[in-house]
Amino acid sequence: MLLPHSKNMNSFSLVFSAIAISAHLTLAIPQATNGCGANLLSCSVSDPTRKEAPWAGSTGSFPQCYDPARYTCASNFLCPIGSPKIAGQYACGPVTSSSPTKPASASIPEVSVTVNAPGAGDIDGIKGFNFIVDLTIDVLSEASNSLIPFKPLYQDASSSTFGPGPNAAFPGLVVLQNTTAKKGPLMGPNTNLAGLFQLNGVASTGGLNEYNSYWDAGAAAFGIGPTELVVYYVKGTAGKTASFTPGASDGLVSNVVNTPFTISNRTSNAIPPTDPHCMNGQVFVPNNVNTPAGQPAVSAQVFHPTEGQKVGVNGSGWILDLLFDATSSMSNALISADAGYSSGFINQSSPLFKPGPNSLLPGLVVLLNTTTDKGPFKGPGMNLAGLFQINNVRDVNCDTIIEIWAAWLVGKPIAGHGPSQINAFLVNGTAPAVITDTSSLSARTDLISNVSTVNIILS
Ligand SMILES: *[C@@H]1O[C@H](CO)[C@@H](O)[C@H](O)[C@H]1NC(C)=O
Ligand SMILES: *[C@@H]1O[C@H](CO)[C@@H](O)[C@H](O)[C@H]1NC(C)=O
Ligand SMILES: *[C@@H]1O[C@H](CO)[C@@H](O)[C@H](O)[C@H]1NC(C)=O
Ligand SMILES: *[C@@H]1O[C@H](CO)[C@@H](O)[C@H](O)[C@H]1NC(C)=O
Ligand SMILES: *[C@@H]1O[C@H](CO)[C@@H](O)[C@H](O)[C@H]1NC(C)=O
Ligand SMILES: *[C@@H]1O[C@H](CO)[C@@H](O)[C@H](O)[C@H]1NC(C)=O
Ligand SMILES: *[C@@H]1O[C@H](CO)[C@@H](O)[C@H](O)[C@H]1NC(C)=O
Repeated sequence: MLLPHSKNMNSFSLVFSAIAISAHLTLAIPQATNGCGANLLSCSVSDPTRKEAPWAGSTGSFPQCYDPARYTCASNFLCPIGSPKIAGQYACGPVTSSSPTKPASASIPEVSVTVNAPGAGDIDGIKGFNFIVDLTIDVLSEASNSLIPFKPLYQDASSSTFGPGPNAAFPGLVVLQNTTAKKGPLMGPNTNLAGLFQLNGVASTGGLNEYNSYWDAGAAAFGIGPTELVVYYVKGTAGKTASFTPGASDGLVSNVVNTPFTISNRTSNAIPPTDPHCMNGQVFVPNNVNTPAGQPAVSAQVFHPTEGQKVGVNGSGWILDLLFDATSSMSNALISADAGYSSGFINQSSPLFKPGPNSLLPGLVVLLNTTTDKGPFKGPGMNLAGLFQINNVRDVNCDTIIEIWAAWLVGKPIAGHGPSQINAFLVNGTAPAVITDTSSLSARTDLISNVSTVNIILS
């Protein structure tokens, strides 16, 4: 910095104090301390509903970078400009009308939409496709249950219901991406992508319905590089195209979620670098170099269903959704391309779709303690991993940690009805087709993750 030349003592001390202040400001604002890039600010965000550390399950607030031209930081939350935080919820509201005669209360949400994956700043996709979008849609009151038909749906490129436009199971769902191509049936960024979501499952908790909708992008038609997802729910049936800034006149009945992430053009899920490359304002949380003693190399979580949930319709039509994260830089190697892990959609007519190990996530083991002993199924020890249609390997924490999402829309009542238990974990190498001793899973010597257990009720 160039200093003005001072002529006397008095002005020198004024200049001196100005230097002190500007030095302090320099330390307090950009790159060095807040980790944000040029033109970005830091917001102290509190959101226990987020899945990623340090927010997950914590009521504390943690810094997150944001672009002030696009987001507002208020009440310890970041929301798109014009779409303020909904009081009492960790969600942003619809864009309220500029007309003073239309109060914001005209659009109290009846439905809550959550984007489980991608997380802001994640890097996903191989050659521009095979990135995923994982949504949960929760009805907020019993009176609103009737807004969404309780109907599961599996669809792939060979299904008559599959294609851009509304989703045949969840008609009011709107999913937009600001980089969607104008090509073939795609009509550019305003195209409603909900009809492309292959896995659509149903569940309920305490009389309130919950839905899951899951997409694995099957073509490189949604951009490469930074992109932004916009998700919301409308009354009735959504259009083939929809607005990025919906309001009451669009029939909006939910919050509006905006998620920036990056679609990758990489050719494989190689081991990520150790130095952070933060995108979309994400803040880097330093990793352990090696896995600390007493921790698993990879953390396992049955993300959905949640404990005690009632799932599906007559034993099928529900989504089993798993999440795994390397817990240190060293453990990335266990779940990278070098270890045989890759992303992809396995359709139900593929010869790879069968019980046993998963062809894309070799170490995955998934058990249901009530699995039938009939046909290709060999009872509770049957490894069900090969039935997971969505298999996704991505980089999180500013491109330094490998994260895996895997989802199965259970299409047949292969585990009966009533109470059942899910156990999911990863083993080193290729998992067995059948686990012979299911009573001591966490004592296995080939584990590379901990064992996640959830008890459910199959309808
Ligand atoms: C889409 O959104 C991303 C992330 O917000 C942004 O960086 C990019 O410039 C946008 N692209 C278009 C075409 O609007
Ligand atoms: C993606 O990678 C391919 C080569 O693998 C290259 O030809 C193409 O230009 C890349 N696209 C973008 C948008 O970077
Ligand atoms: C429910 O599934 C059982 C087999 O698990 C079958 O016998 C029964 O017909 C099904 N009921 C309905 C209503 O589909
Ligand atoms: C299903 O997967 C098989 C094997 O990869 C493939 O040959 C077939 O084209 C796929 N079908 C659809 C509809 O994508
Ligand atoms: C399976 O798990 C459920 C839920 O915990 C439990 O009620 C049931 O007894 C178990 N069944 C078997 C066969 O182990
Ligand atoms: C995984 O298996 C390989 C090959 O058998 C072995 O070299 C390696 O030490 C094992 N790693 C862990 C974490 O068990
Ligand atoms: C698995 O390990 C992770 C990382 O140590 C931990 O956060 C999580 O609570 C563990 N889960 C279970 C089910 O033990």
